[in-house]
Amino acid sequence: MKRLKIRHRVKKIHSKSRPKRRASYIVGTNLKTLKNLANKEIEKTQNLKELNDVFDKYLGKNGTILRILRSLEKLPKAKRVKIGREANDFKNFLKVKFEKKQSSFVKTAEGKEEWFDITAPGKKPVFGHLHPLTQVKRKAEEIFQSMGFSVIEGPEIETEWYNFDALNFPKEHPARDVVDTFWLKNNQLKLLLRTHTSPVQIRYMEKNNPPLRIIVPGRVFRPEATDASHEINFYHLEGLMVDKNISAANFKAIIQEFYRKFFGKSVKVRFVPTFFPFVEPGFQVNMSCLNCEGKGCSACQQSGWLEMMGSGMVHPNVLKNAGLNPKFWQGFAFGMGIERLAMMKYKINDIRLLYSGDLRFLNQF
Ligand code: PHE
Repeated sequence: MKRLKIRHRVKKIHSKSRPKRRASYIVGTNLKTLKNLANKEIEKTQNLKELNDVFDKYLGKNGTILRILRSLEKLPKAKRVKIGREANDFKNFLKVKFEKKQSSFVKTAEGKEEWFDITAPGKKPVFGHLHPLTQVKRKAEEIFQSMGFSVIEGPEIETEWYNFDALNFPKEHPARDVVDTFWLKNNQLKLLLRTHTSPVQIRYMEKNNPPLRIIVPGRVFRPEATDASHEINFYHLEGLMVDKNISAANFKAIIQEFYRKFFGKSVKVRFVPTFFPFVEPGFQVNMSCLNCEGKGCSACQQSGWLEMMGSGMVHPNVLKNAGLNPKFWQGFAFGMGIERLAMMKYKINDIRLLYSGDLRFLNQF
């Protein structure tokens, strides 16, 4: 209460200190001219806001009409009555004009409103969908997660150390040149676009102690001539399992189960020896052809087998480089192309279709 009173007083003082308007100025105004002027101003308005402004100017709290009425007391009686009547006429005239103009605005707004037919059939919303590669990636993640693997990510720009050295690629060894590399210009760290997702093996083992089970889906880059099965930018899905007493048999069981779930049918898996500096021994994983189930057809070049990925038992040097003792820990690693999985699953014969952005292709998934 106290506060309110104080505020009130402040207001009063404020209003008292305002300079008084000179009443005679208003009274001297020719009401007829004013009426014409106001009429024109009202007619000119284009919208409700403009109309309201004119309304305030003439009929508002500090508007012309009130000012005229306020100034009447200063006049001799006869004049007061005459001008008072004129001012009231003016006021009524304006009120009618404003209301008319106002309703004209409202009318045009209503006129534009569409008629809503609730019985008309609805428009079908256009739904988007995930890119086939994203669908395949998510499906693979889901299957590995159900087997206890965590999904991990790593940087696409890597150092030479993580992409090559730590993975046991000898310096100046031709193994480094097997995979062409996009090197970044002008840097002392020797940065590059990762050529595979294997560097994340090192990054993860540096920070986490076994037992560990991870997959690393991600983009990789290689400067290659593009053709039906090569792109310069594609996706790998790396896998790593490290524990005590892990063998190639564990890997075979896990990968067979993955393919069974991913393709929806049992497949045979075989290992063919191959070389990667970061595994020993290294295997090329082959899977019985989905098309002919091993009998031989054009999809598998009559061999009955499809090459699926590189893999192997983690090289002791790799464990050491990541700070783990190879006497206690061992494991397997693998790296598969996500495009290849998608191409097998959906029978796509050209990798470039996946990156074409062609909706006639994409809308089939
Ligand atoms: N990084 C290998 C490649 O780029 C694949 C791989 C991963 C091989 C893990 C062995 C172990 O093809």
